[in-house]
Amino acid sequence: MHPARLLPALLLAGPALAATPQYTKAQAAAGAKTYAAQCAMCHGAKLSNGGAPKLAGTTFFQKWATNTLDDFHFIMSTTMPQTKPGGLKEAEYINVLAYILQVNGFKPTTKALAVKDLKAYTFKK
Ligand code: HEC
Repeated sequence: MHPARLLPALLLAGPALAATPQYTKAQAAAGAKTYAAQCAMCHGAKLSNGGAPKLAGTTFFQKWATNTLDDFHFIMSTTMPQTKPGGLKEAEYINVLAYILQVNGFKPTTKALAVKDLKAYTFKK
């Protein structure tokens, strides 16, 4: 089949993946910088190698399996960074969340991660 003919089929498959978190590469790149400056000293440079709870890996997935990203974002944006809870801008929290998704193996897309969509997303793959 000609490659161009595959495209509509792929686009149609889109909505079925609605619960898979969407974020852009740019968001994750910005989030990586914020994470390094604001979170890494406690949660570790790899998200799972600090003194604070792991933000990546199997234990993390199990812990958050039954919650939405909205719940996760709420905890993160109201209690973190522990030294100044709620102290970052909304875009910074969203970008850090995009980075956490990237480290946990979710692939970037062209749709930006947005607060209004978080209730539809989980960490399940
Ligand atoms: C000064 C150390 C410190 C910094 C800086 C910090 N955290 Fe935390 N974080 C903790 C500790 C300790 C806990 C566990 C206790 C708690 O939940 O309050 C925690 C818990 C969390 C949790 C809940 C994890 C879970 O599974 O229960 C999230 C999410 C989180 N932090 C994200 C972040 C993010 C994102 C940043 C940077 C914007 C950040 N933290 C900065 C120390 C820190």
